Amino acid sequence: MTQDELKTLVGHAALAYVPEGELIGVGTGSTVNKFIDALGASGKKIPGAVSSSVASTERLLALGIPVFDANEVGDLAVYIDGADEIDHAGHMIKGGGAALTREKIVAAQSRQFVCIADESKLVKALGKFPIPVEVIPMSAQHLCRRFISMGATATLRLKDGQPLVTDNGQHILDVAGLQLADPLAFETQVSQWPGVITVGVFAYQKAQVCLLATANGIKTLSF
Ligand code: A5P
Repeated sequence: MTQDELKTLVGHAALAYVPEGELIGVGTGSTVNKFIDALGASGKKIPGAVSSSVASTERLLALGIPVFDANEVGDLAVYIDGADEIDHAGHMIKGGGAALTREKIVAAQSRQFVCIADESKLVKALGKFPIPVEVIPMSAQHLCRRFISMGATATLRLKDGQPLVTDNGQHILDVAGLQLADPLAFETQVSQWPGVITVGVFAYQKAQVCLLATANGIKTLSF
């Protein structure tokens, strides 16, 4: 199976975690796009979703699924999102699509986090994928130096030759060269640095379930 077919498979599998009659949270990325398409075609009756990005909002609305502002609603039954890496405890690196801040907010508003991924995303230790960190632009170079002093490299993410601007009007640093022995400790430490909006390590806000698409079908990991 191709990686695209695996994403389609796991996007469909996530429908089993969507309770009818309840609001859900929807993440961002190519795997979630498969889930949104499956949800639109499924006929499942949900009142709507809270979305983690402009891109996902547009896709949901195009399929006739109402999208609510996070402040208009209470708890969400489930949050469904992909990951750039996930370990065997449900800790993740997220933000490859630059949506990490809203992803963490919607995940926090949800009773359960269901991560959908193909098997290439499962790792023993987080850190091979550069860790995205959303930052206030004026803090970027200072924060780069702090990451360098930890033995990492930190690069300002560009788009079309200019600093990428997130849905929140901020910038992204991609931090490479760290193996995270303790993801929660790293997330806690970096979250305190002035200028950091969100670190793309989801340890406090980890997944409770991971649906992993493999060549032999869907594997369900519970944490
Ligand atoms: C978006 O900011 C990310 O957190 C995505 O969830 C992550 O990059 C996974 O994306 P894909 O499903 O496209 O691999």
